[in-house]
Amino acid sequence: MIQKFRKGNPVETCAVSEKIFLSDGEIPFISALGEGGFEIKLADKDIVYGLGEQVRGINKRGWKYTSCNSDNCNHQEDTHSLYGTHNFFIISGSRLFGVFLDYAGSITFDVGYTRRDTMIITAEDYDMDIYIITGDSEKDIVKQFRKLIGKSYIPPLWAFGYGQSRWGYKNAEDIRSVAEEYRKREIPIDSIYLDIDYMERFKDFTVDENAFPDFSDFCSEMKSQGIHLVPIIDAGVKIEEGYDVYEEGVKNNFFCKDKDGNDFVGAVWPGRVHFPDFLKAETREWFGNKYSFLIEQGIDGFWNDMNEPAIFYTEDRLEAVIERVNELSRGNMGIYDYFEFTGLVAGISNNTGDYDKFFHNIDGKMISHKKVHNLYGYNMTRAAGEAFEKLSPDRRILMFSRSSCIGAHRYGGIWQGDNKSWWSHLLMNLQMMPSLNMAGFLYTGADLGGFGSNTTEDLMLRWLQLAAFTPLMRNHSALGTREQELYRFSNCDACKKMVEIRYALIPYIYSEYMKAALNDEMMFKPLAFDFREDSSAAEVQDQLLLGDEIMLAPVYTQNASGRYVYLPEEMTLVRMRSADDFETEVLPKGHHYVRAELNELIFFIRKGKAIPMAAPAKNTAEIDYSTLSLIGYEGAEYLLYSDDGISKDYGKAENYRVMKSKYSCSVGLCT
Ligand code: NOJ
Repeated sequence: MIQKFRKGNPVETCAVSEKIFLSDGEIPFISALGEGGFEIKLADKDIVYGLGEQVRGINKRGWKYTSCNSDNCNHQEDTHSLYGTHNFFIISGSRLFGVFLDYAGSITFDVGYTRRDTMIITAEDYDMDIYIITGDSEKDIVKQFRKLIGKSYIPPLWAFGYGQSRWGYKNAEDIRSVAEEYRKREIPIDSIYLDIDYMERFKDFTVDENAFPDFSDFCSEMKSQGIHLVPIIDAGVKIEEGYDVYEEGVKNNFFCKDKDGNDFVGAVWPGRVHFPDFLKAETREWFGNKYSFLIEQGIDGFWNDMNEPAIFYTEDRLEAVIERVNELSRGNMGIYDYFEFTGLVAGISNNTGDYDKFFHNIDGKMISHKKVHNLYGYNMTRAAGEAFEKLSPDRRILMFSRSSCIGAHRYGGIWQGDNKSWWSHLLMNLQMMPSLNMAGFLYTGADLGGFGSNTTEDLMLRWLQLAAFTPLMRNHSALGTREQELYRFSNCDACKKMVEIRYALIPYIYSEYMKAALNDEMMFKPLAFDFREDSSAAEVQDQLLLGDEIMLAPVYTQNASGRYVYLPEEMTLVRMRSADDFETEVLPKGHHYVRAELNELIFFIRKGKAIPMAAPAKNTAEIDYSTLSLIGYEGAEYLLYSDDGISKDYGKAENYRVMKSKYSCSVGLCT
């Protein structure tokens, strides 16, 4: 059951797509605090699931999380806000209920940080809709919520292939050489990403003709090798006379305004930019149509970036900081002056104080950005998604974004932002999967190998062993870091085998993705969602269930040749060195130390289940669905979903077929 309550006068967020009538009376489970916030009492063993893209474990207890979309490439355990915000959580234990706060501004969830037995929710103001969802199980609550917010985005099948990306590929030659290196070693690949350098001086919807002469020919050349190019689109539009996007935006009032009604100026990659007012339908339509510039040249996938929006500086803040720094540097800078100096400089970029310097036009009213901050990235993705429906009505286009909030899941996926080449971020990648799925984001994954800082070859290999299962499998890294294309490493052959395993698993991964998207379900679940009575399963923070068939327990620590795994029931351990070199072993319910050498990918097949496997393929187009086999328990059946991977008439009866395993724990025939 879903109950909806309203406080104050909320802005329309379009997070919810199903109409629910307002309930009267008291909001259950939540008590109002005098100052306007809310509190929820937490019993000792209550678990708090959800909150989408956030740091820390699957159980969110014991930290303070703020929903305020933030560009923070240095995030770690003590960070409060990341790139996306997803105000949906479930409390499970002494009571079971879900809460969605449909609110576009900054809101903080103190989940037992100040007082272990209390969740305290405080916001900028209390103009919000509150949804309380009750049900029989966590899965039931998620399903009701997902129905409320509408169907999740579905990418083309090729977007489940391996993608290579790096900020720093400068021209067609660089891209050709990446493709060539992958081809030479026969490492499967489906996409190469174009970061900001493909544009002419970082201007959206332009291509640098010196770097990419004959761009459309180049797209075809890559497509003929089975490679899709995926260009980046940034939120900020360069201010430059003669640049059509800038001029049209100014002329038609498509940009956000400052307090005096002038187009607001911030600075990002191209220097001074204006930010499109994506909250206006006219702006969305205009900006969305601009993607056609690239689609017409053969592009069929995009990533939207810097759309929190990230602001490197505003000119008035920069001036004020420079003035103060000059004052400070005139004297003998004492330690407190020095702290002030470093704080001022560090605070120039992405300063939340800049969010009330610009305004959106919502139904003719000027609304401070601060009030609707978390809707910005969502509406950039919506601009693209709405346009794609018209530009490409029959064929899917890949779209994923950095910033998001609930609602954006209908138009695109997300990546998990600028992580680091840290083992802790490999674990974080895993831990975020179920909370993002709860919020409707199914097409997701992290920058494989880590974006910032220098990766190591063992981290890359271990990360591949998790990313082999995540819908988005993209190796991406930052300018200036160690190059991390798989062929850079001495363990390239082992890495290649992990990618081959991914391709063998794609029929299963795609099938599970589609079933989750079409049925409003989670693809990745905490163990306790299926093993509800098992108190040990409830404690597990580093394993996941994928679909109803498998459990993931990747190794995420350096110099370890195995890990502890909890099995909530008997399962079959699968230890894979390559797509056709694997062994299986049935393990009983309980705690185990499971060995997994660096070159071994491990996962578990649940009792009585089986999964399909394909023969290795060099890209998704070459996966042979007519020779799938099943691995798993004898007699197990698997409901396979498959389609042409590109058209949009999902869910037809002929897209489903039941496969049956004839042999136990080995490659079996399918019927
Ligand atoms: C920030 C994005 O998060 C990152 O992935 C990208 O490489 C840089 N911007 C440069 O475009």
